[in-house]
Amino acid sequence: MKNFLIAPSILSADFARLGDDTARVLSAGADVVHFDVMDNHYVPNLTIGPMVCQSLRDYGITAPIDVHLMVKPVDRIVPDFAKAGATYISFHPEASEHVDRTIQLIKENGCKAGLVFNPATPLSYLDYVMDKLDVILLMSVNPGFGGQSFIPATLDKLRQVRRLIDDSGFDIRLEVDGGVKTSNIAEIAAAGADMFVAGSAIFSQPDYKAVIDQMRSELAK
Ligand code: DX5
Ligand code: ZN
Repeated sequence: MKNFLIAPSILSADFARLGDDTARVLSAGADVVHFDVMDNHYVPNLTIGPMVCQSLRDYGITAPIDVHLMVKPVDRIVPDFAKAGATYISFHPEASEHVDRTIQLIKENGCKAGLVFNPATPLSYLDYVMDKLDVILLMSVNPGFGGQSFIPATLDKLRQVRRLIDDSGFDIRLEVDGGVKTSNIAEIAAAGADMFVAGSAIFSQPDYKAVIDQMRSELAK
C-alpha cells in the first residue's frame, strides 16, 4: 500500500484541552498534527499562533506538526513557527509578495515547505518552484472554517497535480484539506492525494481510533 499520511486538523479539537486532545488523536493512529493558523485578515477567522505550537511541543507532542498558514503577510511569522517546533510550513502564494523567497525562508529555517492552492487558485504558481517544494496542498473548501463540504472540482485538480508531480520526478507530498471523511477518502486518494487533513470528521466522533481505522481501511481498498 502507498504511504498515506492522516493529519487531523486540531482546529476541530477541544481548545480548552488541546494538549490532551492532540495526544489522544495521535495515540488513535494519526501521523501528523495539522495546525491551522488564521489571522482574520487573509481569512475571516482567528485561531492560534507559534506560542500554541511551542506549548504542544512542551507538552510532549513529538509527531510532525503541519503548520498551514492562512495569514498575510507570511514571511515575518515563519521563523517564529520554525523556532516553535513546526515540521512543515505551508502558505498561500497570493498572501506572499515573493513566493520563491518565502519558500527559501522556510527551508533556511529548517522546515519542509508547502504551497497551498485555494479552490480557484491557478496551478501556474507552481511554475519555477516545483524543485523546492516538499508539499503541495490543495484546499477542497474555501479556507477559514472547519466543517465545510468537499468541493468536487478538487478531484480534477488533484489528478492534474498528481501528473505534474509524477512527471517532475520530485518527492512531493500531495495533501488535501477540507471536507475529507471516511465516505470520500478513497475517491480522493484515487485522484492522487497521499496526505489527508480531516478535522470535523475525526473530532466530532467520540472514538478517534474508529474513524482513523476506517479511513485506513478505505485507503487500503
Ligand atoms: C480550513 C482549514 C482546514 C479545516 C478542515 O480553512 O484549513 O484544515 O480545519 O476541517 P474539516 O475537515 O472539518 O473540513
Ligand atoms: Zn488547514
